[in-house]
Amino acid sequence: MIEIRAEQPLDISGVGQVTFDAFSQSELGHHGEADLVSAIRAAQPDAISLVALDAGKIIGHLMSSPATVESQGRIISGTAIGPVSVVPSHQHQGIGCALMNTLIEIASVQGYNFVAVAGHPDFYLRFGFHPLNTFKIQHCFQSMRDEVFFLRLLGSVDRTVLTGGRLKYCSEFGPQDRFA
Ligand SMILES: CC(C)(COP(=O)(O)OP(=O)(O)OC[C@H]1O[C@@H](n2cnc3c(N)ncnc32)[C@H](O)[C@@H]1OP(=O)(O)O)[C@@H](O)C(=O)NCCC(=O)NCCS
Repeated sequence: MIEIRAEQPLDISGVGQVTFDAFSQSELGHHGEADLVSAIRAAQPDAISLVALDAGKIIGHLMSSPATVESQGRIISGTAIGPVSVVPSHQHQGIGCALMNTLIEIASVQGYNFVAVAGHPDFYLRFGFHPLNTFKIQHCFQSMRDEVFFLRLLGSVDRTVLTGGRLKYCSEFGPQDRFA
């Protein structure tokens, strides 16, 4: 039976291992995602860190950290998902989807206006995300394509307030100087 819950201090080393295993055995390879999780945990008290357990053992993890869209002189607050990891032995069993759905529920309850994510559309579009250009938003990373970013609005936020906006992740994701 799979359990999904908020990360606790004792989970930290298991989360690091799961993140490393999931990425290093994927076609993407591991490019510091486990360190990114640690950096976000250390610097972002509002990050949402969820673990998936099978018989008490951590087999999946999702991190989401504060993000903003600056648009029309306003700052709209949201949360940005990533990294998400499920160990290879437990993939394709719905655990990634369960982590995603739990995060969306929590973000909604916490009053965030949007959830953002960068990744493969085959995985993320099923959760009500739309490409950034649907909202006429651009992200601020210098070297990433706009097409890999997706956003889902939460609650009753009016999408027109986002028009022309710029999506910013927390600084642990590195420089976001595309428009500097
Ligand atoms: C992406 C990941 C978290 C999905 O976890 P999961 O538990 O296997 O996901 P689920 O079983 O809930 O959903 C599986 C579905 O998502 C899609 N999917 C899973 N991994 C995918 C990937 N790397 N690319 C595109 N689509 C993917 C498939 O459509 C799959 O459906 P299928 O099982 O019918 O083939 C997991 O594959 C993983 O940890 N990958 C390595 C790390 C990674 O790439 N993380 C995401 C980028 S931040």
